[in-house]
Amino acid sequence: MNKHTHPLSMSERADELEEEKMHEMERIITRSTIAHLMDGNIKMDTSPQMRAKHPGKFFLMGDDPRLPPMPQKPTLVDYFRHRFASTAHLLQSATHARKGGQPEKVVLACLLHDIAIVSFIRCDHGYWGAQMIEPYVDEEVAWAVKTHQALRFFPDETVGYGYPNLYKELFGPDYQPEPYIVEEYKRARAHKWYMTSRLICLNDIYSFDPNAKVNLDDFVDIIGRNFKQPKEGLGLDNRPSAHMWRTILWPTRFL
Ligand SMILES: [Fe+2]
Ligand SMILES: [Fe+2]
Repeated sequence: MNKHTHPLSMSERADELEEEKMHEMERIITRSTIAHLMDGNIKMDTSPQMRAKHPGKFFLMGDDPRLPPMPQKPTLVDYFRHRFASTAHLLQSATHARKGGQPEKVVLACLLHDIAIVSFIRCDHGYWGAQMIEPYVDEEVAWAVKTHQALRFFPDETVGYGYPNLYKELFGPDYQPEPYIVEEYKRARAHKWYMTSRLICLNDIYSFDPNAKVNLDDFVDIIGRNFKQPKEGLGLDNRPSAHMWRTILWPTRFL
C-alpha cells in the first residue's frame, strides 16, 4: 500500500529513491552542504538525523561504493579515467595546441584548463583548477589556468581572438562579466605570462573537428614530463592542494 497521502513531487520521489538505495548500502553516505546548496536548499545531513534513519550503521569514511575504484596510489591519469565526467573537450584543446606546434607547457595548460569543471565545481573553475594543480606543475601553467576564465570574456584581435559566439548562446547577448573578472582580466593583460593564458583561449574550442580521434594515451608522456606526480599518490601526499584531490577521491566521506 502506498504510504503517502499525496502524490509525490519529483524531488520527493528522488529523495525516496535515494533513501531506498541507501538502505541497501553498508554505510551511511552523506552529502556535503555545498551539494544541498546546489539543489537550492540550505540544509545539512546531521549525524543524529542520519543515524536515526539508518540504525546500526556506520558512516562512510572511505571509498564510495557507487564510484569506480581507484588504485592505492592514484595518478593524474587515473583521475582522468575514473573521476573526470568528460575529457573530450580537454583532449581536443590539447590536441589542437599540440598540432599548432605549441610547447609542452601550453599543451599541458590546455589539457588541464577545465579540470575543475569536469571533476569538481563550475563556479570560478579557473581559480579552483589552478589551485588543484599548482603544487604539481610549472607556476606559469597554474597561472594560465587561473586567468583563462577571465580572458575568455575579452577579445584580443591582435591574435585573432574574438568574444566567443558560444558565450552569446550560453549567457545571452547582453551578459557582462562580474567586476572581479574585469579586474582579473586587466591584471592578466599586463602580466608577463599573458600570452600563455591567451593561448588556452585560442585553443579552447568546442568542435574544431567532431570526428577527430582524441586519446589520453597521446598525452601520457607530456603528463609524465610536466606533472609532478607524488609518489604517495595524487591526493595522498601533503602538498597544499592534496585535500582537493582527496575530496574528488572520496566525495562522500563523513569527515
Ligand atoms: Fe574554462
Ligand atoms: Fe574550455
